[in-house]
Amino acid sequence: MNESTPPFRAPVGTHDVLAPASAQWEGVVATFASLAHRYGFGLIITPMFEDVGVFNRGIGESSDVVSKEMYVFSDRGQRTFALRPEGTASVVRAFVQHRPPTPWKAWYVTPAFRYERPQAGRYRQHHQLGVEALGSEDPELDIEVIALAWRFFEAVGLRRVRLLINSMGHDECRGRYVELLAAHLALHGAQLCDEHRRGWSTNPLRVLDCKRPACVAVTEAGPMLPDHLCEDCRNHFARVVAGLESIGIEATLTPRLVRGFDYYTRTTFEFVADALASAQNAVGGGGRYDRLAEQLGGPPTGGIGFGCGIERLLLVRDAEGVSDELLKRTPDVFVVDTTGSGDSTVLLDELRRGGVAAQRAYGGRSMKAQMRAADHSGARFALLIGPTEQAAGQVTMRDLRSGEFAQAQPTVERGDVVAVVRDLLTEK
Ligand code: HAM
Repeated sequence: MNESTPPFRAPVGTHDVLAPASAQWEGVVATFASLAHRYGFGLIITPMFEDVGVFNRGIGESSDVVSKEMYVFSDRGQRTFALRPEGTASVVRAFVQHRPPTPWKAWYVTPAFRYERPQAGRYRQHHQLGVEALGSEDPELDIEVIALAWRFFEAVGLRRVRLLINSMGHDECRGRYVELLAAHLALHGAQLCDEHRRGWSTNPLRVLDCKRPACVAVTEAGPMLPDHLCEDCRNHFARVVAGLESIGIEATLTPRLVRGFDYYTRTTFEFVADALASAQNAVGGGGRYDRLAEQLGGPPTGGIGFGCGIERLLLVRDAEGVSDELLKRTPDVFVVDTTGSGDSTVLLDELRRGGVAAQRAYGGRSMKAQMRAADHSGARFALLIGPTEQAAGQVTMRDLRSGEFAQAQPTVERGDVVAVVRDLLTEK
């Protein structure tokens, strides 16, 4: 490689996330992990790629995600794999493989890969936080999963997120509904958008998902799913909505909400952020998939989950102007050492072992350069060790944020530094 070789860049539709921006990621993942544990979910880690059949069968070959967006490849042993386009199918595959006792509740944080047209909020590699709960069809489980998502959005500071909800019914009522919808589309197919005019019959439900005005107009005049649910599915749905209401979570009934995957049955939901443009305003979504375990070769097992896009969530936080304080990661102290004696090595070790986030400059730089670095780091205090301090067995403290000690910078006995810093930090 020589000077004229252009440097490599991350692939189109992907991003590097560096500090300090990555501190927000740490913050949202930690918040999610702690909430998930409170709700009884344990972390699951599954491979980033799976036999392509897991997604073909699980998500459905007529879905856009599988037919147009999946990264499929053969390995050197001629096996066909796909990079995970979402989290649910892999988790259910793992459930079927390991058969853990039910109810089984798993949470995850994972990259997901979809060959989409990159734009703000839509990437070829995005990241999802999610949960899956298997082994019960009880509407209480639906309420719990939706509540977890809702409380998570609250915990990271979002205030303008709405919950849209629908029921897809179980196989039979949905099957009957699809026949009615197909009959309606057969009459009005010529008025659908370019994409669906020819292709609607492969999967009529996809037309409900289409946001183009032509498809919206045709489907709005047609049959709606909730009017065709059987009594069981209707009761199940009513209990979910009432349960959410009892804990102060308002759900907007949205009959057109069918979502893009074939595995959904009964409850489906989406969280939309009013602060984002409508094409990319879904910050999370999920639903029941009571047939998925069977489709992947396991016993009949009800399940429900949701996934939330981390990049989208951060865009919404920005758009809503949520303060960064909650997620900020700046050092507590910055050690400035002009003696080059190794005193700072020992002091930094003591501080860090004592629970203080401490940074330093490297390369024996001047006092001025080290103070600039200290200011730049966002640390609360600078701890100065120069020849005078060293000789007296002391450290000088400077408050970098309030300027409180600007005139009278206190000196602290070397042996007391960690305790003094910790006291000052808890005082604020
Ligand atoms: P999904 O709606 O396809 O559902 O994705 C979940 C969330 O991931 C979306 O609401 C969005 O925030 C984010 N997302 C999706 N695609 C992209 C993209 N290309 N770029 C950026 N963010 C994106 C699922 O994946 C289901 N597995 C959810 C689920 C879990 N259903 C049941 N359990």
